[in-house]
Order: sequence, then structure tokens, then C-alpha cells
Amino acid sequence: MAGVKTTPEIKEITKIERIGAHSHIRGLGLDDTLEARAVSQGMVGQKEARRAAGVILKMIQAGQIAGRAILLAGQPGTGKTAIAMGMAKALGEETPFAMMAASELFSLEMSKTEALTQAFRKAIGVRIKEETEIIEGEVVEIEIDRPATTGSAAKTGKVTLKTTEMETIYDLGQKMIESLQKEKVQAGDVIAIDKASGRISKLGRSFARSRDYDAMGPATKFVQCPEGELQKRKEVVHVVTLHEIDVINSRSQGFLALFAGDTGEIRSEVREQIDGKVAEWREEGKADIVPGVLFIDEVHMLDIECFSFLNRALENDLAPIVVVATNRGITKIRGTNYKSPHGIPIDLLDRLLIIQTKPYSEEELRLIIDIRCEEEDVEMSDDAKELLTKIGTETSLRYAMQLITSSYLIAKRRKAAEVDIEDVSKSYSLFVDVKRSTQFLIEYQDQYMFNEIKASEVQPMES
Ligand SMILES: Nc1ncnc2c1ncn2[C@@H]1O[C@H](COP(=O)(O)OP(=O)(O)OP(=O)(O)O)[C@@H](O)[C@H]1O
Ligand SMILES: [Mg+2]
Repeated sequence: MAGVKTTPEIKEITKIERIGAHSHIRGLGLDDTLEARAVSQGMVGQKEARRAAGVILKMIQAGQIAGRAILLAGQPGTGKTAIAMGMAKALGEETPFAMMAASELFSLEMSKTEALTQAFRKAIGVRIKEETEIIEGEVVEIEIDRPATTGSAAKTGKVTLKTTEMETIYDLGQKMIESLQKEKVQAGDVIAIDKASGRISKLGRSFARSRDYDAMGPATKFVQCPEGELQKRKEVVHVVTLHEIDVINSRSQGFLALFAGDTGEIRSEVREQIDGKVAEWREEGKADIVPGVLFIDEVHMLDIECFSFLNRALENDLAPIVVVATNRGITKIRGTNYKSPHGIPIDLLDRLLIIQTKPYSEEELRLIIDIRCEEEDVEMSDDAKELLTKIGTETSLRYAMQLITSSYLIAKRRKAAEVDIEDVSKSYSLFVDVKRSTQFLIEYQDQYMFNEIKASEVQPMES
């Protein structure tokens, strides 16, 4: 019969991973003396700027600077955002890194200063030391009573735990039973139960059980049976940001808002209360401040109110390191009629350490293209890479990077395993770069709407 399927369709399941513009950046690529390696951690060239960023990082990690601001200034596509990403990667888990584009401030349902305050507080960590009580021992036996009548009756049970010195039987409630089952805990496992939260973590299998290799995978971790008492006090340290504390404590929001991302405005009384509490903890030695990094990209999009806010906020005791980036030259400060370098008011500029990024050499372009081909899993012939590099020097690094993907798709259409010159040139003719597009606009301007510019007024797009 036509149209009737007799075999199930088998679809290949392929892993889908999106590759972002900066996914190849894994750090700043510096050596121990903070010298920039030629090619390392996905970074190429731009050595002075990377080194400068590395010096700043060291100062941050040593906790030496707070309330400073750094400006990354340079032409489009010279790696400013990439360097900021590299800093974030190099900072490690503990130090908060908050990132925003200045333009985001204008699309939020809260005031600009509230949004900036939240961004600042996302970049400040509080390292909190807490003592918790835990029960740690090797599981001797788990006994779960099945209720005689199947139905809603809650399960109950017992777990026997031991250390090298003692053995105790604990009663289990429904929730504990569920988490024991979820963690697949069985006799012979060494577990820790957090008394306050009831959270169970499996620490490994007891060495005493290393001989029964029935149900063990190769990844099984063996640990000693704990010594001493079953109940212990343990110090745990964790870092949360001030913003997270704000949100959790703002009654109208609740911590679920952290997951929704929709936190709304937070009342200033809440913040004052929290700052007071944190100061108390610091005095009692229960907490430390971990100043992190706030990165504001495209900082020329901030307006004069935001700039004043920044000036003041940087002088606050609890200020993070602020890193801003811009590709603008001398231009109007948003919200005023005044011009200033980078569109940033002089009083703020004066507080900034400036790191400059410079255009790439042909050789560096070639290396970045190499890295991107690898990152995107694209096989490309040397000739094609050469052409792409030429295109990059004539147009821009970004444009050349875009052509990697489109050339790859074109090569795939002709079932080639490798991208060759013809694919790159096809791609080059399909997608115009800014220069050619501008040329076209100048020639055919009469046919476009809102056309105001005369050909003689168009400045060459130097980048
Ligand atoms: N030194 C570098 N090493 C490796 N990749 C780089 C380097 N510099 C830039 N890139 C990559 O080139 C692309 C463009 O760089 P990036 O976005 O950082 O430029 P930018 O200076 O922020 O430009 P804009 O001013 O337009 O924001 C990105 O995909 C980036 O990851
Ligand atoms: Mg950028």
C-alpha cells in the first residue's frame, strides 16, 4: 500500500552545540611572568593589551584594588570584548564577573540607575563561612518499609550508619528515602547528610567493600570509613553575590526570581539592611568581601545620568572593578550636546586606566581564522585560508569570520569535505561586506528611503 510505513524511521541524533563569537577564548594566554604567549588559550597577538589586562587581573586576585575602572579602547573588531571574556575565564569560579552592554539599560522595566545598581551588586561577592552539622558514615543497611496497603501512605524506613568507632540507626522520612533512592545509595557507600537541609551526598564507596566488584563501574571512588563520631560540625565556605542576597531577602521577590531573571526593582531599605548585616558578618569574621568585575560593553551608549552614577558608585566602599569598552572616537556624550573622547565625560575618563587595542597584522588574522576554523569544526584548504586572510585585511576580521560558516555550507552543498578557494569566493560574492555595500548605496541612493547623504559626504569606513 502506498504511503504506509513498514519500518520505523530512524533519525540520527546529533549533538547540537551552538558556537558563539567568543567560544574559542579560554583565557588571556599569559605565562607566569604575565607575558602574552603568541598563541595561547584561543588568543592571538594584541600582546600589550593582554598583558595589561593580566596585570589588572593579578591586582584583582590579590584584592589590592577596588573601585577602579579600566577602559578598553580600540577600533571595531580588535578584540576588546574578547579580552574581557578572557579575563572572565581567567578569574575562576570564586570571583564574580558580571557582564552587560550599555544599551541594555534602555530596554528594562526599571530605572537606569536601579539596573546599574543591580549590575554593581552582581559583581561583588560575599564569601560566607558557615558551620553546619552533618552526619557522615558508611551505610551498613537501608531498610524501607513498604506500606501494606498500596496507596498514599507515606513510606518509612531506617538507615544504619557506622564509623570506625560507632554504629547508629536513624529513622527515615519520606523525603530522605526519596533522596537516598535518587542518589542510588546502597550498603557500603560512605555518605554525608546535611542536618539542616537534609541533603545527601555520596562521598564514595568504602574500601572495606572494594572486594565485591559486582555492581561497580570503573569510575567508582573508594574512601575510608569515617572515624570518630557520626555527627560532626563542618565549616563550609561559599560565595554569593550581594545581588543574590538582595533578591533572596526582598520579600516581594523571593529567591525564585533569581531563576526567572525577572527581579524588578529592589527597595533601598532592603539593600541598606543587607549592607549592615554583611558589615556585621565581616566584623565577626564570618564573611569576607570578594570584589569582582563588572564589564560594561559599548560604554558610549550610557548617557550623562549613568556616567554620573558611575562616578559616584566607584567611590563606594563596596565597589567592584569596572571594565568598560568602546570603539568610538571623539563623539557626543549621550544626553548632552558636548563632545568628548570616546563619548565619555572628562571627569570619568580621568578615573580610568586606558588599555588600547590595535588592528591585527595579516599573520595574526590568519592565526585567528585558523583557530575559528578549528572551533567551528571546518576543514579548510591552505589556499582558501590565504584568500580569507586577504579578504580580512581588505574588509574586517569579523566579515572574514562570518565567511567561514557560509563557505562551509557552500562546500557542503557540493559534497566536499574541505572548504576550498571556490567556496570562499562564492561566499564573498553572495554576502557583501560594508565597503561594497556602501559603494552600492552611493551608486543607487535615489532608490532608497530616507536618503539624505550625498556621495561626497560619505566617509570611507576605516576600521
Ligand atoms: N586577539 C584575538 N585572538 C583571538 N580571537 C580574537 C582576538 N581578537 C578578536 N578576536 C575575535 O574576533 C572577533 C571580533 O573581536 P571582538 O568582538 O572582541 O572585537 P571588539 O574590539 O569588541 O569590537 P567592537 O568594537 O566592534 O565591539 C570575536 O569573535 C573575537 O573573539
Ligand atoms: Mg565588542
